Amino acid sequence: MANPSILILPGDGIGPEVMAEVRKVIGWFGKNRDLNFDLSEDLVGGAAYDAHGTPLTDATMAKAQSVDAVLLGAVGGPAYDDLDFSVKPERGLLRLRKEMDLFANLRPAQCFDALADFSSLKKDVVSGLDIMIVRELTSGSYFGEPRGISDLPDGQRVGINTQRYTTNEIRRVARSAFELARKRGNKVCSMEKANVMESGILWREEVTWVHQNEYPDVELSHMYADNGAMQLVRWPKQFDVIVTDNLFGDILSDCAAMLTGSLGMLPSASLGVPMENGRPKAMYEPVHGSAPDITGQGKANPIACILSFAMALRYSFDNGDEATRLENAIETVLANGARTADLLGPEGGSPISTTEMGDVIIAALDASL
Ligand code: IPM
Ligand code: MG
Repeated sequence: MANPSILILPGDGIGPEVMAEVRKVIGWFGKNRDLNFDLSEDLVGGAAYDAHGTPLTDATMAKAQSVDAVLLGAVGGPAYDDLDFSVKPERGLLRLRKEMDLFANLRPAQCFDALADFSSLKKDVVSGLDIMIVRELTSGSYFGEPRGISDLPDGQRVGINTQRYTTNEIRRVARSAFELARKRGNKVCSMEKANVMESGILWREEVTWVHQNEYPDVELSHMYADNGAMQLVRWPKQFDVIVTDNLFGDILSDCAAMLTGSLGMLPSASLGVPMENGRPKAMYEPVHGSAPDITGQGKANPIACILSFAMALRYSFDNGDEATRLENAIETVLANGARTADLLGPEGGSPISTTEMGDVIIAALDASL
């Protein structure tokens, strides 16, 4: 049987640096665990714009549709700030999400014991934290029509985006959340603004429908998203799985990420409907951005991107055991004190570089055999 295929899109900023470490890890699994992948690489974001005048070519889009999984680094950077909106780096990412129909974005926020002191919150609030945000990724105000900027008769301008959700869009992401909850703490909290938005009322009704008809065994609660943000910093351990829309999910997941101490630690998986081979359409990427301020200095933390590959092992390649092996290796190096610059607390210390972090993770993988 052919090896599963992965398209690597390193993108911009620190993307290529962290992806180089992921390649080491992928190579390790090939050599030591007989897990081989057919890797190809292409451009996305500003890098694609520089080469082709577009943040994602049709050819790259077609490749992404044909592989078993896409691994993406990061997109964007100040060099592209003045580009026309239609060719900004982020449009490449959004096109991938939309055309691959990656409707369920899984953003786990787990606090590694060794890092519990780094959170801006008290240690007992975050230690042992393990929550999963399921963010709807292909609809809502990111894609709703009408949208745009236009002139008003009185000389003003108006900017419009539309928050829009259909029954099926809500039901399918709700199912993803309930399925995940069954494998975890069996609790789902759904967040919207049903107190002010009709789309929020529909969201609440449809999530409730899916719950009553298909997942009555899972505990479901509802929260207004603003209260959800507050509860996330007050007592995050009350949550297991959170399901929410595209825009609220964008904001709440950044908030949840920081609970764990560093944005440099958090992976994500964006999943769509199953392909012919049974695997879901999938793209894996770190939650952090392209970090232009530290690009090219060897300071970037590759862990979020490496953990994204662990998610690929689990959700695309049905290999939870090897995913756990990789996650444990990361836990080990952190417990042993390995720190990239983002992981240094107020007391300082000497950070290791991006490649050194990759190397100690490989050494921990070796030790796991
Ligand atoms: C994210 C990012 C993206 C988003 C940007 C880069 C378009 O913030 O993945 O959370 O807003 O979805
Ligand atoms: Mg975001």
